[in-house]
Amino acid sequence: MTLLQKLALLGAVLAAVYQIAPGEPAWMTELHPPPSPGPYESLQFVGGDGVSKLSGRLHRPPQAENERDDAATLPVIVMVNGLGLTQDSNVTPYRHAFINAGFAVITFDFATFGYSDGWPRHQVKPQHHVADLKAVLRQLQTKSDQWTLDNNRVALWGTSMGGGHVLTVAADVAADELPIKAIVGNVPHVKSALESVVGTIRRDPLTGLTGLLQVTGALIKWAISQLMKGETTYIPLHGPPGSAAMMQNPADDEGYSRLILEETRDSGWTNLASVGSVVPTLFYRPYNNVGNIEIPTLLIVAENDTLCPASAARDAAKEITKARLVTLPGIGHFDVYNGEALHAILKETVAFLKEHV
Ligand SMILES: *[C@@H]1O[C@H](CO)[C@@H](O)[C@H](O)[C@H]1NC(C)=O
Repeated sequence: MTLLQKLALLGAVLAAVYQIAPGEPAWMTELHPPPSPGPYESLQFVGGDGVSKLSGRLHRPPQAENERDDAATLPVIVMVNGLGLTQDSNVTPYRHAFINAGFAVITFDFATFGYSDGWPRHQVKPQHHVADLKAVLRQLQTKSDQWTLDNNRVALWGTSMGGGHVLTVAADVAADELPIKAIVGNVPHVKSALESVVGTIRRDPLTGLTGLLQVTGALIKWAISQLMKGETTYIPLHGPPGSAAMMQNPADDEGYSRLILEETRDSGWTNLASVGSVVPTLFYRPYNNVGNIEIPTLLIVAENDTLCPASAARDAAKEITKARLVTLPGIGHFDVYNGEALHAILKETVAFLKEHV
């Protein structure tokens, strides 16, 4: 074969992959208008890139509504979403428990999600999310008087990937820069998603490899699309095993769906993640730096978690000086948002936050 023939063959193969590989086009062209005012104060943050406007909300404890003068002493919990979720996703029971325990709660949407700007939509790059979280925390420090919050009594709560971001920020940020009193990693992402993919392939090789092939095809299609058209493509955030979805362990599809509400979709939310942000996610490993964490840390772990394995969080707990590890037996990653498990977790979490914040 001559070089020209080889190049023609390669071109034909890539064209074929482009045709059959998964990859959806972008679906949003402008931000949806924000919802009518709810039982919270709308906030706006500048994102970690220094430009994006992030949509945020401040929820105050019910009893504080009538006594604004005393509100300056309110401790505050910043809540950090899981991968692909928005402030309108169903982690509502946690928020309610925190405000009912007397904490103010700040929620926000990462850039490219929910009511925050940033294009193309739905980029899940961990380093960008960490930068957004740090930016939010810095603005909380400077605006706490205006918002009548106590900037010396701040805690971070993060679930799933958000739990990973909380660990990363706690490991990176000096106490004098951002006084954080406690952090909670709720079924946190600790080691790299690659390790979780390997686990999936071990448990069910055929389905696991099918999924891997689909995602690999999607990456090739994305690369071609970037090169030829400068456009990103999308794969599902969650889906059945063997699909092209980012999260595709047996319980992921149904479990993730339970976190999506009508309100989540009102912002234009669709079950898609920008393929270009998948690779950095695969290599994101908060575990590498957890040894630096000196802040009291609560890790809530689901024994049968296949997405963020319990063993990874247990390893992290050994590295963190002031770690408390709570393991919920017999449940999976998405079983921490309702039922008995939720009840037990809320009790542990609120007690921990009250003690340290
Ligand atoms: C959960 O994990 C434990 C320990 O690995 C195992 O003994 C148990 O059978 C698992 N339960 C379920 C429901 O998978």
